[in-house]
Amino acid sequence: MIELSALRKVYPSADGPVVALDGLDLTVGRGVVHGIVGRSGAGKSTLIRCLTGLEQPTSGTVTVDGTTLTGLSEKQLRAARRRMGMVFQHVNLLDSRTIAANVAFPLEVAGVPRERRRARVAELLDLVGLGHRAGAYPAQLSGGQKQRVGIARALATEPAVLLCDEPTSALDGETTRQILGLVRDLRDRLGITVVVITHEPSVVREVCDEVTLLEHGRVVQSGPLTEVVTATGSPLSRALVPVPDLPPEARRDLVEVTYATDDVATRDAFAAVAALGDDVEVLSATVEPLAGRRVGRLLVDAPRSGTDAVVARLRAAGLDPVVTGREAGGPDPAAGRREGVT
Ligand SMILES: Nc1ncnc2c1ncn2[C@@H]1O[C@H](COP(=O)(O)OP(=O)(O)OP(=O)(O)O)[C@@H](O)[C@H]1O
Ligand SMILES: [Mg+2]
Repeated sequence: MIELSALRKVYPSADGPVVALDGLDLTVGRGVVHGIVGRSGAGKSTLIRCLTGLEQPTSGTVTVDGTTLTGLSEKQLRAARRRMGMVFQHVNLLDSRTIAANVAFPLEVAGVPRERRRARVAELLDLVGLGHRAGAYPAQLSGGQKQRVGIARALATEPAVLLCDEPTSALDGETTRQILGLVRDLRDRLGITVVVITHEPSVVREVCDEVTLLEHGRVVQSGPLTEVVTATGSPLSRALVPVPDLPPEARRDLVEVTYATDDVATRDAFAAVAALGDDVEVLSATVEPLAGRRVGRLLVDAPRSGTDAVVARLRAAGLDPVVTGREAGGPDPAAGRREGVT
């Protein structure tokens, strides 16, 4: 559905060229919700602008829904863009128009006749749960309702792809959950492909099937959520499955293991640890839902026998543990929760 190949974008600037995207390859399949995360300046917005054809890549290709955007004329680009819906952090609604008229706007531009427009707008507002507010003006809506209007408007021309740049950053927790629920629902009902740029781990956890971590315009890690968090030494693991705060005495090396519960049952992981006897202690054990699966994480302390024995035991049980903590030079075990994805 979406294919980026060797994508490079270099911006000229007074201080010399800025490489925003540096040879990026990425494929997103039809009907997948794909998250893009990374620090400020990693190239996330540049990536979305290249996807919409608003920005011409310096080299490489962008293919969306079978159309290669590079080298298209303005007119062809406009047609291709109609197959893409955009949702932003701040919804730019026309204040002087009702929400129905806002949703109708892209259909007017596309030359859809009035009767068809009316029917389509009613359908779209129902889809986002605002059928009863068609005559309201933007000023009369909450932030979450405005974002729903933004989503309805983005879907007006029946795009194959929905591109969202920080869609919930301006919303509170509960409203964020509702909007993400709507996005998943739309994907299920319309089979639409969704790309979501976000800095919030909770957004990735709640709505994405796959995630890509960008750093300096390059892909650092990419894949289905459960694969990404259970991979050895995964940079995204702590961000997506946070570690609880630990007592101060837990400052020596610890063994950490993250697993999908349908690969290894939590009781089997516990049994492997318990087999080591009294010396080992489970400092934390969590199981969290993630992309329709469940991911478990154990943090194990072995003050006397040391981490090697624990690692060997867990490996024998089919798990993939890592040693973490101060002495291993790894991050502070409590850091994941505080830092977030970026
Ligand atoms: N029009 C531009 N001209 C020059 N440099 C640019 C331009 N747009 C972006 N950049 C640079 O390209 C790099 C990537 O920027 P981009 O906006 O894609 O980052 P981002 O990941 O979206 O960051 P944020 O999380 O802050 O939105 C940055 O170094 C930025 O300064
Ligand atoms: Mg950005």
